[in-house]
Amino acid sequence: MPQNVQEIAPLLTLSRVSKRFGETQALSEIEVMFQAGKCHALVGENGAGKSTLGKILLGVHQPDQGEILLEGTSVSLSSPAEGGKLGLVGIAQELSLLPERSVVDNIALGREITNGPLVNTKKTRQQVLEVMRQFDMYLEPDILVGELPVAEQQKVEILRALSRDAKLIVFDEPTARLATHEASQLLQLIKSLAENGKAVIYVSHFLEEVLEISDTITVLRNGEHVRTNPTNKETRDSLIIAMTGQDLQHQYPQLPKLKNTDTPILKVKNLSRKNEFENISFEIRPGEIVGLAGLVGSGRSELAHAIYGSTMPDTGQIEFCGEAFVRTGVEHSIMSGIALIPEARRTQGLVLGRSILENTSLPYLARLSSWLGLNKAQELSEVNKYCSNTQVKHAGLHMDIDSLSGGNQQKILFARAAMGAPKMLIADEPTRGVDIGAKRSIYDLIADMASKGEAVLLISSEIEEILGMCHRALVMSRGQIVAELSGRQLTKKAVMKAAFSGV
Ligand SMILES: Nc1ncnc2c1ncn2[C@@H]1O[C@H](COP(=O)(O)OP(=O)(O)O)[C@@H](O)[C@H]1O
Ligand SMILES: [Mg+2]
Repeated sequence: MPQNVQEIAPLLTLSRVSKRFGETQALSEIEVMFQAGKCHALVGENGAGKSTLGKILLGVHQPDQGEILLEGTSVSLSSPAEGGKLGLVGIAQELSLLPERSVVDNIALGREITNGPLVNTKKTRQQVLEVMRQFDMYLEPDILVGELPVAEQQKVEILRALSRDAKLIVFDEPTARLATHEASQLLQLIKSLAENGKAVIYVSHFLEEVLEISDTITVLRNGEHVRTNPTNKETRDSLIIAMTGQDLQHQYPQLPKLKNTDTPILKVKNLSRKNEFENISFEIRPGEIVGLAGLVGSGRSELAHAIYGSTMPDTGQIEFCGEAFVRTGVEHSIMSGIALIPEARRTQGLVLGRSILENTSLPYLARLSSWLGLNKAQELSEVNKYCSNTQVKHAGLHMDIDSLSGGNQQKILFARAAMGAPKMLIADEPTRGVDIGAKRSIYDLIADMASKGEAVLLISSEIEEILGMCHRALVMSRGQIVAELSGRQLTKKAVMKAAFSGV
């Protein structure tokens, strides 16, 4: 090593740290160092162990094995309070503020300057203002915290950490609930904290953010340490490969081959609905995946709902499996063999507060019941089969649907759809907001349904997804189909050009 390059001693080191929760090995033998003055990002798919690692650093969880070294000395952190005393603090996703108290009170909480038993309000306030000045982060001191927007509330938490002389600050997905401009402000702030000498640990699955603000990136996969690299050695693609353990060519499955002789499953002719879409005609054949591309608001979801029967078109005809399809509503459509995976999975797809089992079997209760009532054994065995086919990771079918991650909730909707053995699947933005691994499983599920001869209509705003997953794409703009693209014509440029035509 050249003379002028100095090794900076790490502030905190994890040495062979392991943590298990019941059957889940959340972390295994993790070795990683965190340095003062650096922003160190942790990335990985959902469940990779990022939050667990952060919580071990803060004393929220204790490792089963391994050691934590603070400035070279082994420490045991038995609680977050103990971590806090050593300068290790976290900015949590769920904020821990007192909404009824002022900004000053919240920042100074537990550290007020006192004269005997009385709080010296003036000095406490001065001390808070001094911290604001030092970090150039000003908030109205007397406003009640509950009246501030989330982004400002986060600042209160950060100021609280700073006023306690934090040495290391863990941010666990802090931008998840923020609007774009708020998120970019927070990122700048995080960066400046590192520049001010703090060790910052930044957990996020937004790779662009991570690449922008971090100095070092550690990738975790399934509780294991994949690698730690300087940020300039990584790219979005290299991180995706490291996080998923799959190379990028394999992001999309092989699509089933089409037979030209097959007659269409769906024929839509001149379908219109006022203010939504106009004169729409197209067909989908068995096993064919047709993409519906276009900008948000171009009428794609509205068209999907009119085919499905949750709304009725004003004019036009639909043929389904060779017969005129007279829709009377959603139930009839499901019985006839159409499944829809809606865009708003939480409000239109799932029944919140109910179990995984109930959410999956919901449309089929009539079929699963006899005059004796619901056949619970059959319900359980069918749901179990479809949930394992769709690889839902759950801790029991009787658990609340909200115990699942977004990606797994989406898989439940696929399990539900598959359980009806439909002839056609309409999937509206099925991978929005799910992590990369779950995305791949959802693509596999769609390709699998197509290879069984089902017709698929895939609505997506991600052009890559349309290119990777569809035999053919229809592009909508302002309620009309403005292009039909397949084979070599189906390119990113062509889709974009069509989507923006007429805007
Ligand atoms: N308190 C807990 N009890 C049981 N299992 C947990 C607990 N915390 C995390 N896990 C499990 O440990 C694994 C890692 O979780 P986590 O660290 O939250 O991942 P990430 O933050 O990367 O999404 C997951 O399988 C998760 O379900
Ligand atoms: Mg997490």
